[in-house]
Amino acid sequence: MRIIEAKNYDDMSKKAAEIIAAEVTLNPTCTLGLATGSTPVGTYQNLIKKYENGDLDFSQVHSVNLDEYKGLSGEHDQSYRYFMNTNFFNHVNIDKANTSVPNGLSEDAKEECAAYQALLERIGGADLQLLGIGGNGHIGFNEPSNEFKKGVHCVQLAESTIKANARFFETEEDVPKYAYTMGIGNIMNAKMILLLASGESKAQAVCDSFFGSITPQVQASILQLHPNVIVIADSDALSIAKEKGVF
Ligand code: F6R
Repeated sequence: MRIIEAKNYDDMSKKAAEIIAAEVTLNPTCTLGLATGSTPVGTYQNLIKKYENGDLDFSQVHSVNLDEYKGLSGEHDQSYRYFMNTNFFNHVNIDKANTSVPNGLSEDAKEECAAYQALLERIGGADLQLLGIGGNGHIGFNEPSNEFKKGVHCVQLAESTIKANARFFETEEDVPKYAYTMGIGNIMNAKMILLLASGESKAQAVCDSFFGSITPQVQASILQLHPNVIVIADSDALSIAKEKGVF
């Protein structure tokens, strides 16, 4: 695992975009595993700039997203499909037919999980999986638990996650209580993982995940076992690891 310190959010976003751009340049038909949330927004903006400058071509790129809220349609402005369209896909030349996000409106949760799992198995793992991290160490919506779930599953969101995501909804009650997510096995299948973390609210999770023991109570800690992980964390996100003298 390589841990790169960025000065701040902007610096983290630039560095992350450089790594994704290198992947797309070297492997124009790559599959990118993508994330939503506040963390990757700046990275997507930098990738859009590179595309507008004529430096990147997404025409043959495929993508698979980590997760989606159960119960939200792709048109709902808080759905992750809508997020991806508005923050990234609408601004580059990726073919939307080649982009996949779980279907939040599936009638049958089991069937949706099986269908997304089958899709991921067909792909055989993303070439590069982009990740953010929750304040409790979650990746995708794999919340602290007694186990690492392998495949795609429907998960009840932790109270802390609902609270953290309430900022995007009118009221906390509006935040969906369930989501579809790739499992830890799906994430670990990626050839390369790029995890981003910015801000003091992530400092404990960064310290526990990458400098502590591997435990399902801190789901991101499993990444210590992956052979090709790059973490780009800004100084605030590394502050606790630094205070403890482990970074
Ligand atoms: C998003 C996702 C989540 C977020 C995490 C951090 O697709 O899977 O694990 O990466 O909740 O969210 P932000 O970036 O909003 O702090």
